[in-house]
Amino acid sequence: MAEIPLAARLFAKFMAALLCLFGGAVVAVDMLASRVAVDSYVDTLAERLESEAHSLARTEALAGGRLAQQQLVHLAGALGARITLVAPDGRVLADSEADPAQMENHRTRPEVASALNGRPGRSVRKSPTVGSSFLYVAVPSPHGAVRLAAPLERIEARSQAVRGRVLAAIALAFLPFVALSAWLARRIATRMAAVMEMGAELARGNFTVRLPEAGGGELRAFIRHLNQTGEKLQKLVEDLEREHAELERLERVRRDFVVNVSHELRTPVASIQGYAETLLDGALEDPRHNRRFLQVIRQNAERLGRLTQDLLALTQLEWKTRRFEFASYRLAALLDEAVETIRPIAAKKNVSVERAEIPEHWEVFCDAAAVHQIMANLLDNAVKFSPEGGMVEVSARLERDAGHVVVCVRDQGPGIPAADLPRIFERFYRVDKARSRELGGTGLGLAIVKHLVQAHGGRIWVESEPGRGAAFFFTLPLEDPGLAAEGDLHREFTVM
Ligand SMILES: Nc1ncnc2c1ncn2[C@@H]1O[C@H](COP(=O)(O)OP(=O)(O)OP(=O)(O)O)[C@@H](O)[C@H]1O
Ligand SMILES: [Mg+2]
Repeated sequence: MAEIPLAARLFAKFMAALLCLFGGAVVAVDMLASRVAVDSYVDTLAERLESEAHSLARTEALAGGRLAQQQLVHLAGALGARITLVAPDGRVLADSEADPAQMENHRTRPEVASALNGRPGRSVRKSPTVGSSFLYVAVPSPHGAVRLAAPLERIEARSQAVRGRVLAAIALAFLPFVALSAWLARRIATRMAAVMEMGAELARGNFTVRLPEAGGGELRAFIRHLNQTGEKLQKLVEDLEREHAELERLERVRRDFVVNVSHELRTPVASIQGYAETLLDGALEDPRHNRRFLQVIRQNAERLGRLTQDLLALTQLEWKTRRFEFASYRLAALLDEAVETIRPIAAKKNVSVERAEIPEHWEVFCDAAAVHQIMANLLDNAVKFSPEGGMVEVSARLERDAGHVVVCVRDQGPGIPAADLPRIFERFYRVDKARSRELGGTGLGLAIVKHLVQAHGGRIWVESEPGRGAAFFFTLPLEDPGLAAEGDLHREFTVM
């Protein structure tokens, strides 16, 4: 069986409550109306009977206390009431409808008792003789009491008629009332159902639901608060998701880093261990191998030293704990110093390193040691990947409007495939891992260079095509772009 919609259920409940309330009110009004009607009719009838009873008492007095049965029946017919004459001791002297000899003493009837005491009395009760309700009125007379009794049937019929009219009037008023209540109940039920359904959605964890802020009053304010709550929760969830993703990314970076470092350490350590054991096992006495083995041990120890140095440098840059000493330097001098340092190594490979002509007066604002480190890394790569007899060229161009110079280190090596270009500055990233390791590289050089350039507020990029060499570019500021200011030393750099 299909479930009845929430709005319809709420509507039914509202209407049931309203109808119960209204039903209760109708019953109360009906009871009150019939009671008031009966009371007022009984009062009027009682007053009429009392005045008739007084006249009758006077007639009885005139007749010397004796009224013929026939006369009594005639008078009762004219009055539309039963007449009973009672002696001071309560005995029935005459009755228009029964034989007095057969009737019991009336002394204890409340209206008769009151009349015999000198005060008119009245009473409403069921007649044991006839079986229906009667109004009894008795007044004192010189010969005891005169009592008149009239049936209440007609009064009851009249009061029923009044009740009918009252109920008809209520029903008429009820129709628009029901229509208005139904309209209002439907409106409230629909809105409340929407609010409750939204609450359920929020509880289910769906924070994207919103309700239109229609209508007015408290419900509108409540819907607004509910919407605001939804918005806040949604933002909170999004923030948490973002933070969670970032934490996951950082965790991945950390795990990769640890894996890479341990991997890089393993090879030289294993090599040192292996050759040391071979030497101890007897090779030390073998003049053909001992020197070569020791050289391998030294090379690997140097590699370990370089690796730890690079890691330390990178960590200092990433944690921004490295202090720089910025000042203005002549660019030509800085570049020459780097070129001279690499030349002897390049010469071993028959690679020439040249500096293009640049004006002597160009000055850059930098940390000289950092620029030396940048150039040393780029030149080291260029020479390392150059073929025998190749040429490495260092050049620079001025971009005064941008406030910097662009330094370029270009080689004639194998170049870098396009797919690798975007990742070349990541730590431990190498195009050909095996070959780079063979050449003594750990893949940290360019990551360090990138951080150093960024510490100068600069940018680094590479242009290369496989087989056509590679050109690395980086910028250096002409003047202090605010680097000397304390805060700027600790700007945020991208962590690779
Ligand atoms: N001039 C270049 N020509 C071709 N490939 C290059 C050049 N410079 C860098 N690469 C590629 O980029 C990788 C990363 O360079 P990077 O300087 O970071 O590491 P490395 O030189 O291998 O090791 P390290 O610099 O730590 O000794 C290199 O392994 C190489 O694959
Ligand atoms: Mg390198």
